[in-house]
Amino acid sequence: MTARQIDGKQIAADLRAAIALGVDELEEAHRVTPGLAVVLVGEDPASQVYVRNKGKATLEAGMKSFEHKLPATTTQAELLEIVQRLNADDSIDGILVQLPLPKHIDASAVLDAIHPDKDVDGFHPINAGRLAIGRPGLVPCTPSGSMRLIRSVEPKLAGKHAVVIGRSNIVGKPMGQLLLAADCTVTIAHSKTADLPAMARQADILIAAVGRPEMVTGDWVKQGAIVIDVGINRVPAAEGKTKLVGDVQYASAAAKAGAITPVPGGVGPMTIACLLENTLRAAKLRRGIKL
Ligand code: GUN
Repeated sequence: MTARQIDGKQIAADLRAAIALGVDELEEAHRVTPGLAVVLVGEDPASQVYVRNKGKATLEAGMKSFEHKLPATTTQAELLEIVQRLNADDSIDGILVQLPLPKHIDASAVLDAIHPDKDVDGFHPINAGRLAIGRPGLVPCTPSGSMRLIRSVEPKLAGKHAVVIGRSNIVGKPMGQLLLAADCTVTIAHSKTADLPAMARQADILIAAVGRPEMVTGDWVKQGAIVIDVGINRVPAAEGKTKLVGDVQYASAAAKAGAITPVPGGVGPMTIACLLENTLRAAKLRRGIKL
């Protein structure tokens, strides 16, 4: 079997267009323009690119974008004060503090300070708890984007065995919760799992979120499985250049899978689209407007 390639770029573009319509409708009916604040501490080059792309996409969706670029020397107390200001600012519906933060700042303390209703990353313990017990809230963007990609090729998920490789709070754990809520049988595998390839081979839906370049090869993939590659790894390429690869070795996995996401152009574009979706959702929830 040669896999169908899941076009994350196109699916994300369609979602962003739908969000832009939703923003117009909200403006028309309620005179509200959603606002997203993104806070970046320090000069990490990858983070700078992400933050720039987020700002651009926010404006393109018709929302207001507020960027706070702070020096790497910013103290935790200063950052917490900015978060509190954004919590209290009525023109801000979503707050995202870009990770990783410099080492002298306790990221958990900062994420916990974001008001749960403005937590468009879905990282606050209240939102993680809501997701775990099946209550409405704000859901992390990469897992919700991945669910959309899975549903684009297979709407009937009940009873499927989903194996998530990786147990991070940002991707692996919330991904497992979303698949469980979709009635999948879920295994969350990780670096200590015995015989990881054999576990992966049981998956109807295989999600790789480990941050190890091309770790998942074709012999880990069951015939016809849906393979979602969350990894974005920069590795050396020819002529001293670098290239992006996922956690999945694309060619060998595509030879076995039924459908597979590429890197780049798979999960990546969905993350920003889902961030915009969360911002629109937060703007409505905060005002008691029907979703
Ligand atoms: N850094 C890498 N991915 C993310 C993300 O989804 N949210 C935040 N806040 N920081 C990140």
